[in-house]
Amino acid sequence: MATNTCPEPATRPDLWPTNTCRDANGVLSIGGVALNRETLGDALTGHQPVIVLDEAALRGRAEVWRAAMEEACWSGYGMAGAQVYYAGKAFLCGKLVQTLSELGLGIDTASLGELTLALRAGANPANVGLHGNAKTDAELHLAISNNIGRIIVDNEDEIARIAAISRHYDTRANVMVRVTTGVHAGGHQYIATAHEDQKFGLSLTTGAAERAARTIAHTPELRLVGLHSHIGSQITDLQGFALAAKKLCQLRHRLIEADIAVPELDLGGGYAIAYTGADPTPLRAKDVADVLAKQVRESCAASGDDVPKLSIEPGRSIAGPVMVTCYPVIATKDVTIAEGKTRRYVAVDGGMSDNIRPVLYQASYTATLANRPAKAPTCASRVVGKHCESGDILIADIDLPADVTAGDLLVMPATGAYGRSMASNYNLALRPGVLAVNAGASSWWVRPETLTDLFATDTALGDA
Ligand code: LLP
Repeated sequence: MATNTCPEPATRPDLWPTNTCRDANGVLSIGGVALNRETLGDALTGHQPVIVLDEAALRGRAEVWRAAMEEACWSGYGMAGAQVYYAGKAFLCGKLVQTLSELGLGIDTASLGELTLALRAGANPANVGLHGNAKTDAELHLAISNNIGRIIVDNEDEIARIAAISRHYDTRANVMVRVTTGVHAGGHQYIATAHEDQKFGLSLTTGAAERAARTIAHTPELRLVGLHSHIGSQITDLQGFALAAKKLCQLRHRLIEADIAVPELDLGGGYAIAYTGADPTPLRAKDVADVLAKQVRESCAASGDDVPKLSIEPGRSIAGPVMVTCYPVIATKDVTIAEGKTRRYVAVDGGMSDNIRPVLYQASYTATLANRPAKAPTCASRVVGKHCESGDILIADIDLPADVTAGDLLVMPATGAYGRSMASNYNLALRPGVLAVNAGASSWWVRPETLTDLFATDTALGDA
């Protein structure tokens, strides 16, 4: 397998939070905060890595997506506006909800925890969505009692349940239909979602999606607000999105012919980011928005329909590149892997508990020495975590300076999406905190877990 070398922020800015650079001392710095022990000090608790979030970069990316969609769906083009819903599953915390809400983004949730967090952090319920292929009554009660903007129906059973709960609250729930368009796209098979043989959505080809939309339209407790498609994640080209948009427009046309209004189409998320120097520069928000809006306009023009409101749900492309994980090196070891050939194992504080993606999806990452300039020649290395599994590998092949040693800090870019949000307490590891940095100052958006947090639910140890 080819080794990888971590591109510096100056050469591949798309890989790093916007405000990343090497400072005059050769230390990697984000948002004016140097990533070394002197500056991070207390943030390095000695029990887990630190996730560093560039607050200005987060605001910048959210703003770029919002503006791109607003411009592409401008009323001058005959469009009925746009909305960006940040997909909270990528990473969610209260400060992030508040920041994105301030910038006019909605929040897309997919569980009781995500929905509760979004509402408690102050998101406007009208700009909150709830997804899920197995929504519980508790989730539906919370969504409906708060009158959230959209519940995305994923199966036909759900329709009657949502109607009954709406009756209970004497309200009318806003509902979308999740359509399986049959468009196959996405990286790993576990993150592709629009082919037929998987658990999400209602099929376009069998007519289940259309049937659901008709039932919803004829159920007085429900308001059909739109059709939804999400074709997968980490998608690098736009064709699949355009095709899915076209298919949604065709279904919308059939519903309009049956006198059923469909005011909005949501085209989901899935826009790829770069993780290593081998990845192409990601699609620009503007290009994504333009292609989606153009496709919808053209399809509507061909069928003679009015143009709907457009929404999207990017998660990774907002949160991914604005965070990095800062791993303290704990130990290094040279292992003979063939005659005359060694590999340097660099073991860090962390691993599959704070980033399961390499193990689960064979996802590639890269990392660089952060706390000092790299001077020594490189050697073939493997970055591994501290868990009791030989598969606990964060980066299988990477060229790292041969003098990387215990006490150094390795920083891995592009860990903001599906890193902390998929973290576990395996080996009773403490999940890392998220330290927001901005203009030379830092503050915890999520503080690191402590042993007290960890044992709080253990009835012999905690106070449960
Ligand atoms: N909307 C829906 C309905 C989704 O299911 C998802 C992601 C998104 C939006 C956001 O997709 P994004 O823009 O973040 O690609 N854990 C996997 C990714 C799973 C994606 C699940 N759904 C990973 O680490 O790659």
